[in-house]
Amino acid sequence: MAKVFLENDADLDPLSQCSIGVIGYGNQGRAHALNLRDSGLTVQVGTRDGSRSREQSLKDGFAVNTVEAVANNCEVLAIMLPDEAIPHVYAESIEPYLEAHDTFVFAHGFTVYHKTIRLPDDADIVLVAPTGPGRQVRSLYLEGAGLPALLAVEQNASGLAWNRCLAYARAIGCLRAGGIETTFSEETITDLYCEQSVLCGGLPELIKASFDTLVEKGYQPELAYISCLKEVKLIADLLFERGIDGMREAISNTAKYGSAISGPELINSSTRHQLRKLLDRIESGKFGKLFLDEAAAGSPTIKDLLRSEKHSQIARVGRELRTTLDF
Ligand SMILES: NC(=O)c1ccc[n+]([C@@H]2O[C@H](COP(=O)([O-])OP(=O)(O)OC[C@H]3O[C@@H](n4cnc5c(N)ncnc54)[C@H](OP(=O)(O)O)[C@@H]3O)[C@@H](O)[C@H]2O)c1
Repeated sequence: MAKVFLENDADLDPLSQCSIGVIGYGNQGRAHALNLRDSGLTVQVGTRDGSRSREQSLKDGFAVNTVEAVANNCEVLAIMLPDEAIPHVYAESIEPYLEAHDTFVFAHGFTVYHKTIRLPDDADIVLVAPTGPGRQVRSLYLEGAGLPALLAVEQNASGLAWNRCLAYARAIGCLRAGGIETTFSEETITDLYCEQSVLCGGLPELIKASFDTLVEKGYQPELAYISCLKEVKLIADLLFERGIDGMREAISNTAKYGSAISGPELINSSTRHQLRKLLDRIESGKFGKLFLDEAAAGSPTIKDLLRSEKHSQIARVGRELRTTLDF
């Protein structure tokens, strides 16, 4: 059983005398900064010149600070930047301003696992990775609840890194739901793998291929859209609430029998072989390198994907249905 930490396992003392610098005020950064401050901790936000999110941070009552000033002023630095931007920002605007014995907090293990920056040997390096988007980190916090998080310590120079990690997780509300102990490498690999195999890679491709197959055979695109895409939410909700076995109990016998014979035909030994190759590419660091090269080249693969999907038939049908029907 994984080790789980709850609110009673942590207190805020390890961070109460520190200035916490949140660098980046996007999806995660804004939620972390607001929750940390509402938990009574001292927070500074660092944004780049001309930043789109600077206005939001001002509206939220934070003073304008450059990344350099925050790196200089704060002993705890929460690096809430896109993973591909971290090496450049760290080299230019953080590393030259560091003091001894800083603590670095990451929301994803990518940077540390792929060693895209060289962090000081005397620093604490901790991971507090919420298992969902920043807006949920914030909204659940305001409701008195929290989003579970994955927690890890990569480097414990002070001997206090775990206490700081737990204090941070508690302050952003995650220990209300539970913090699960992991390592930077396990969090990075499982996160990248699952978003590629299931969530953002496999599932959308299966939906597109299933839709195309129906439409090619002359079935109405609107019906194909509703069956292949819209109904995913019903099954996802069942999976979320009850797991795979609970979902099966809730569906018809026709659906049970159909899935029993067709599921393993689709996800067969060759698919499992592909999944192992995908995992190898992530574990070996090859995926990380490909992604950083893609970012350095201006993200051509991502732009192509977005362009082609925007103009695809399934996207057009979805847009039309959303304007004509109530969904
Ligand atoms: N998104 C999620 O759901 C999620 C979930 C768990 C963990 N994470 C992790 O959380 C971390 C932050 O991701 P995010 O999704 O919150 O990022 P994001 O929403 O893309 O936030 C980007 C922030 O970084 C700033 N920024 C971007 N490039 C910069 C640069 N070159 N110099 C200075 N500032 C720069 C942006 O400023 P501007 O306003 O100027 O653009 C913005 O404030 C990542 O490690 C990510 O893997 C994300």
